[in-house]
Amino acid sequence: MGIISLVTGRPGQSGFGSASTAEQVTEGIDATNLTAIVTGGASGIGLETSRVLALRGAHVVVAARNMEAANEAKQLILKDNKKARVDVLKLDLSSVKSVRAFAESFSALNLPLNLLINNAGVMFCPYQISEDGIEMQFATNHLGHFLLTNLLLNKMKDTARTTGVEGRIVNLSSIAHLHTYQHGIQFDKINDKSSYSDKRAYGQSKLANILHANELSRRLQEEGTNITVNSVHPGLIMTPLMRHSQLLMRTLKLFSYFLWKNVPQGAATTCYVALHPNLKGVSGKYFLDCNEMKPSAYARDEKLAKRLWDFSNKLVDSASRTQ
Ligand SMILES: NC(=O)c1ccc[n+]([C@@H]2O[C@H](COP(=O)([O-])OP(=O)(O)OC[C@H]3O[C@@H](n4cnc5c(N)ncnc54)[C@H](OP(=O)(O)O)[C@@H]3O)[C@@H](O)[C@H]2O)c1
Repeated sequence: MGIISLVTGRPGQSGFGSASTAEQVTEGIDATNLTAIVTGGASGIGLETSRVLALRGAHVVVAARNMEAANEAKQLILKDNKKARVDVLKLDLSSVKSVRAFAESFSALNLPLNLLINNAGVMFCPYQISEDGIEMQFATNHLGHFLLTNLLLNKMKDTARTTGVEGRIVNLSSIAHLHTYQHGIQFDKINDKSSYSDKRAYGQSKLANILHANELSRRLQEEGTNITVNSVHPGLIMTPLMRHSQLLMRTLKLFSYFLWKNVPQGAATTCYVALHPNLKGVSGKYFLDCNEMKPSAYARDEKLAKRLWDFSNKLVDSASRTQ
């Protein structure tokens, strides 16, 4: 898949490409026996992902920090699909306390869990520290999802074991993982204000999404667990994600119009990786336009992935101790 395929929408090996929509890549798939959590499922790519998973019959839990938006999203999904099974639950990924509370609320629902779509994210924020004292893009995009996934993993393992149905975890990364700090992850300067770059901090958090997926995939394979973990770049889509860089993104779009997708196309890779039978047993891979791609050298660095895993555990532990 190269730039020509991106612009023309020419399908790749999977039979799908940049022009494919989430509905097209999941056509004919029956997801009625699946339960999914979609973080950030109240807007943009997450909302379309939730809508299409529900359209295929999955029971979808929209995890959102803004409950008003989440309820509106639920109504929107139900408007065209009266039979959709959608629940909404509060989740603020930038807060360890909120992530733990979400996991408890989900557990209280007594639902199985087959699919976890780690989709929520913020981009290019001005320097900000989360309530746990961690740089906001790293805290939201990576650390919150790292903890959430760990807290939900036993439920996913139980579901996969008792049903025999493969569980799938999808991390929304970005092509922006290529534009990170020197050495990939700034372990010693994760909160450093003086070296902060809103663009590189975003790239770092999206690199962390891939490294997290790869290391978790390796661990689950070692255990022989029937759960796959992959990461995706959804493409370039104009969504509320651009709120801190409206002018930059609109200018960029003017000069690169043919590289952009609409939201249904933007949700295609996530839905393909979450549901398509072609990907049974495929884990630890990175996808773009519904086709496997090679991510950056940092993203393929196993030592970096292990170091990030330990580092993330320590950050979560110290954030939990201060509560
Ligand atoms: N759009 C693109 O071109 C593009 C390209 C590459 C990768 N991505 C990735 O795709 C994913 C979805 O992005 P999108 O374009 O659909 O943007 P979006 O419409 O802004 O969706 C992001 C969602 O994440 C939620 N969120 C933000 N901070 C949160 C927090 N602390 N706790 C819980 N939820 C939070 C947002 O909620 P609020 O509405 O409350 O802010 C929103 O619902 C992101 O991970 C992004 O990095 C997007």
